[in-house]
Amino acid sequence: MKIVHTIADLRSQLAPHQRPAFVATMGNLHDGHIALVNQAKPRGDVTVASIFVNRLQFAPHEDFDTYPRTWEADCEKLQAAGCDVLFAPRETDIYPEPQTYKVHPPAELADILEGHFRPGFFVGVSTVVMKLFSCVFAGKPEGVALFGKKDYQQQMIIKRMVQQFALPIEIVAGETLRAADGLALSSRNGYLNVQERGEAVHLSLALKALGEAVKAQELPKREALEAAAMQALAARGWKPDYLTVRRRTDLLPPESTDASTAMVVLGAAKLGTTRLIDNLEI
Ligand code: PAF
Repeated sequence: MKIVHTIADLRSQLAPHQRPAFVATMGNLHDGHIALVNQAKPRGDVTVASIFVNRLQFAPHEDFDTYPRTWEADCEKLQAAGCDVLFAPRETDIYPEPQTYKVHPPAELADILEGHFRPGFFVGVSTVVMKLFSCVFAGKPEGVALFGKKDYQQQMIIKRMVQQFALPIEIVAGETLRAADGLALSSRNGYLNVQERGEAVHLSLALKALGEAVKAQELPKREALEAAAMQALAARGWKPDYLTVRRRTDLLPPESTDASTAMVVLGAAKLGTTRLIDNLEI
């Protein structure tokens, strides 16, 4: 695996290739990231991963400084997975000057759910992903990029950004990987203490129960069922931001006539000081 730090080195490394397959990460890699790399490999003629902790998507009170940086282990995992090129830019490579040009995804998709609780988050994500895409794919006839469904809203926003800017990049959504007890794999699971780790699966259990209740008891009761699900999680000591059933197409609440529409149950809640998110397609 070739490790490059600058945009120029990345581009010269990718010069002979026509269809890069790309996985963007912030490092602290787990099996979910590696599954994306494995799915990337047969889809392109060179497999590229990036590790870059993007300051732009963290609010000042969030965990940018303490976000786990596990460089050696990450390199070993990517090497073992057969990744061809690792792009690990420094902050000054990606943001040599203040990033005043930014990608603002539409409010109806980006200011709800995660965007409501983390204002500016999707501007930061969209801007860095656009920039990483420019580093990896500029001048290429086509490419493919893979994003995990664990960050459901993120992969939707990126897919639409690529459509609207007519980028010749196929966006593939990878299924969420779960631990044996059902907890969605996440870089932030490492923040949980032993007791919290035992409790953490209750977020996905709550989403499953909410999905089943909405399906069984019809859509008009959706809001009451969502409120009950949040109360039940709060009673276990969580601080839920949202547990909600949405249409998969636009992440808006389903109308009562939408019973046969594909839906997704999404949730975010704090356990101790760790904020976890998860979702389940129903
Ligand atoms: O999902 C992530 O790890 C990040 O949001 C991403 C897509 C790498 C952008 O920084």
